[in-house]
Amino acid sequence: MCGIVGYTGPRQASRILVEGLKRLEYRGYDSAGIAVPKDATQDEGKTLVVIKKKGKIAELRKAVPKDLPGNFGIGHTRWATHGGVTDANAHPHVDSSGKIAIVHNGIIENYIPLKEMLEKEGAIFRSETDSEVIAHLVAYHYDGDLETALKAALRHLKGTYGIAAVHADEPGRIVGARNGSPLVLGVGDGEMLLASDVTALLTYTTSVVYLNDGEVVSMTPTEFRISDRDDRAVDPEIDLVTWKLDAIEKGGFSTYMEKEIFEQPESIERALTGRMDFEYCSAKLGGLDMSKKELHAIERIRVIAAGTSWHAGLVGCQLMESVARLPGQAELASELRYRNPVVEPNSLYIAASQSGETADTLYAMREIQRRGGSVLGICNVVGSTIARESDGGIYVHSGPEIAVASTKAFTSQLAAFYLLTLSLARLHDMSHHEGERFLTDLKAIPAAVRRSLLLRDSIQEIAKRYARFGDFLFLGRGLLYPIALEGALKLKEISYIHAEGYASGEIKHGPIALISPDTPSVFLVPNDHLREKTISNMKEIKARGGPIIALAEEGDELVASIADDYIPLPKVDTRFQPFVMMPPLQLFAYFCALELGRDIDQPRNLAKSVTVE
Ligand code: AGP
Repeated sequence: MCGIVGYTGPRQASRILVEGLKRLEYRGYDSAGIAVPKDATQDEGKTLVVIKKKGKIAELRKAVPKDLPGNFGIGHTRWATHGGVTDANAHPHVDSSGKIAIVHNGIIENYIPLKEMLEKEGAIFRSETDSEVIAHLVAYHYDGDLETALKAALRHLKGTYGIAAVHADEPGRIVGARNGSPLVLGVGDGEMLLASDVTALLTYTTSVVYLNDGEVVSMTPTEFRISDRDDRAVDPEIDLVTWKLDAIEKGGFSTYMEKEIFEQPESIERALTGRMDFEYCSAKLGGLDMSKKELHAIERIRVIAAGTSWHAGLVGCQLMESVARLPGQAELASELRYRNPVVEPNSLYIAASQSGETADTLYAMREIQRRGGSVLGICNVVGSTIARESDGGIYVHSGPEIAVASTKAFTSQLAAFYLLTLSLARLHDMSHHEGERFLTDLKAIPAAVRRSLLLRDSIQEIAKRYARFGDFLFLGRGLLYPIALEGALKLKEISYIHAEGYASGEIKHGPIALISPDTPSVFLVPNDHLREKTISNMKEIKARGGPIIALAEEGDELVASIADDYIPLPKVDTRFQPFVMMPPLQLFAYFCALELGRDIDQPRNLAKSVTVE
């Protein structure tokens, strides 16, 4: 949610800032801006040029002169919270003198009294944002040293922030601070960068330092210093990013989402690699950091997550119950945090989050930990806050996911839940032989997913015919119920078509009233004892004139004869059907959105990582 980038070094800062913002655009894309020194050299940089534009980074790019001099500066891509989407509300914000510029990610909760206080002191505000108070507060405290002034300003702030600040009189210096919104420092050769996430740094360096909450960094092209707010020095830990630059390019696809959908065979494979233990027919999950005894003592599973990750958790919990015989419950993090939750002993809490930065999930995790619970993270982004603050975990290794709608991270999260289930099941009821069968089926999943992606053209053809409908129901049972929820979410997110996910057995309890020739139902038909029940539900819809798209195992003639459109899926064991159902649903949403001319990678109103509550 909002992206920050900073650069200091020998190169033209404006170019690097705009390029970095383009990489971060998925974090927020309603407006963007940069601030660089006005003069050609750092020595002469006594004033700042601030360029801000409503709209996508492309608008900012057009507004930034190609030859804009200056080799340090900060930039921001915004997802509005306080104040509408206007040029004035875009960041950077400057103090009244125009010498100090700041960019901010997060929310300053007490900005109104601060603004009143600063206005009395003569500060002139130019925006409706909460963030602008930071620039004026820094100015209020400034006495020749930006780091000291920012630290003093932080003492006033209540809320969350990732901040980067520059002062025209301190050429080459960028000061950053973190509290609840991620910031990562890129350590280059004679240059330094600062960003909300590593995708903005990768072109220049793979050596990074993740800032922790409460830390402040002061950097010049050749050195950096990290300290806490009380000025105690912090020993930096330099990490090496393993993501490659081509992983954040589109690689020949027209959108990131299409690329990420088609990467799933490989991304699932990566989630499984090195973790399938055929000797003991279990899973090797070193990152859990728990002994066999501790794992054996677990009596129930609680997943905390949001959105797509919550759907993965719902699948994971059902699987835990049926395969590992452990009761499981997936909870919406935004609900759990404010519910005064009972943290039971012998419960394993799992925070599932692609980005590892979702505020709701992070705060719920901290609440559980504060009450003495242990929380594992199932995350994609290495070094993310949830990954670092959890008590152990599983990285899903799906590679960078840039499209706002999550696809490959979801199926990789599923893979992690399947591995964890297997490992717990093998500590309880599951025999060696059953474990072997489970592992063999799991190993075959990447190939089955590859086959399900071959349905691309037929799904596109179906999507073309359905894209003009205004309402959809997605219906599934058992493990396919969360997949129905996820299918509906994908369609909503990127096509803006209204879609509801329901348990098929529930439609007669209300939603069937919606059925008409204008409301198609997408049925996810399981290949087990629930198949016949699902077919009965299909007939109920058919009898009321509702169009049906059915996803069912290949060769299911009965389903094919009832449905208006039938999508035949590769045969896999029932327990693994979520893996082969999901890619066709993602493709269906994708092609509906394409047909409607939507902005698929950056749908309206959304942001990739939701770092505000
Ligand atoms: C997924 O398509 C959505 N963009 C959204 O629901 C997302 O899954 C949710 O915000 C949670 O994100 P996380 O996995 O990064 O925590």
